[in-house]
Amino acid sequence: PSSLNLAVIPGDGIGPEVIAEAVKVLKATGVDATVTEYPFGATHYLATGSILDQSELDALAQHDAILLGAVGGDPQDPRLKGGIIERGLLLKLRFAFDHYVNLRPTRIYPSVTSPLSNPGEVDFVVVREGTEGPYVGNGGSIRTGTPHEIANEVSVNTAFGVERVVKFAFEQAEQRRGKVTFVHKTNVLTYAGGLWQRIVQAEAANHPSVDWDYLHVDAATIFLVTNPARFDVIVTDNLFGDILTDLAAAISGGIGLAASGNINPDGTFPSMFEPVHGSAPDIAGKQLADPTAAILSVALMLAQQGHPDAAARVSAAVEADLASRGDAKRSTAEVGDAIAAAVASAG
Ligand code: NAD
Ligand code: IPM
Ligand code: MN
Repeated sequence: PSSLNLAVIPGDGIGPEVIAEAVKVLKATGVDATVTEYPFGATHYLATGSILDQSELDALAQHDAILLGAVGGDPQDPRLKGGIIERGLLLKLRFAFDHYVNLRPTRIYPSVTSPLSNPGEVDFVVVREGTEGPYVGNGGSIRTGTPHEIANEVSVNTAFGVERVVKFAFEQAEQRRGKVTFVHKTNVLTYAGGLWQRIVQAEAANHPSVDWDYLHVDAATIFLVTNPARFDVIVTDNLFGDILTDLAAAISGGIGLAASGNINPDGTFPSMFEPVHGSAPDIAGKQLADPTAAILSVALMLAQQGHPDAAARVSAAVEADLASRGDAKRSTAEVGDAIAAAVASAG
């Protein structure tokens, strides 16, 4: 493949700290890449008044892929209220670049201590819908700020949008262990749940080699703790997927390990890779963040960009590093240095 034209948005809080290590590891692979940094995030907004305008969106669209650290500032800051950065930057990118698959893999590596005492062999992927559901901003309130306020946040589910992500999930299962678990709340969310249910059923008929089952989202949280090895591919809506993937990260040994890809499978727009975690203001600026999630996001990006060998080298180096982690606490940069060195020497 020709030179990888990568946009990097380090973002806020621990974002720049973990992204520095992720870029270090990318460089260690020897993959020919041009890295262009963009300053977007809460800090940039507070300094300039700008979040992400059309010309900046157009510039990002020219890249092959985007690597993002994390965005979002102090939730108590009145200037950032209402998730203005999350919606104006992160969700704007996911929606504008039609990232309808939010791919979030979970593995419990044999060497990692899970909070579960006996989790078994855990290796599943959550296919989280990325462009619809309650995330679309279809809401409003009246009598705002009064005791009679009424606030609505309407979940949007289209047949087109559900079909394409469900199809992707079944295709993933065909490449994996042949099992899809559809997660929703069809016992209460009758309309959206009914649409999802019918589409899953219809899509299943096109994939006879794939077994599928259904769990209500509340029960799914039970099984993620009591029997996570039962899962192969989970397909679910945007909000359920958000919640389940923080839980999945926690059982796998920590949010610092969880990588994700916001994928536009059609290739019309650049896909965007990012850790599942946020800007972690509580530990920012102290070199305490685990950069593993950001580094594994680079591996996902390399695989998606046609560099499977480099991706495998990064994954293997991470796995070896996890196996060698003792009680001694290393800095963010020390972890990145160790993984980058292992990647370079395997090259
Ligand atoms: P968070 O993921 O930032 O932090 C939750 C907890 O996990 C904190 O205790 C934090 O210290 C810890 N943690 C997170 N990443 C870690 C890492 N790499 N290593 C070690 N510990 C880590 O979630 P939050 O506190 O709910 O959100 C903080 C801000 O980040 C908010 O503004 C939120 O909107 C934003 N956010 C952004 C993204 C994103 O940019 N993709 C994702 C989630 C949250
Ligand atoms: C995530 C985050 C985002 C989400 C927020 C920051 C908008 O929690 O990537 O998981 O809810 O999708
Ligand atoms: Mn989340």
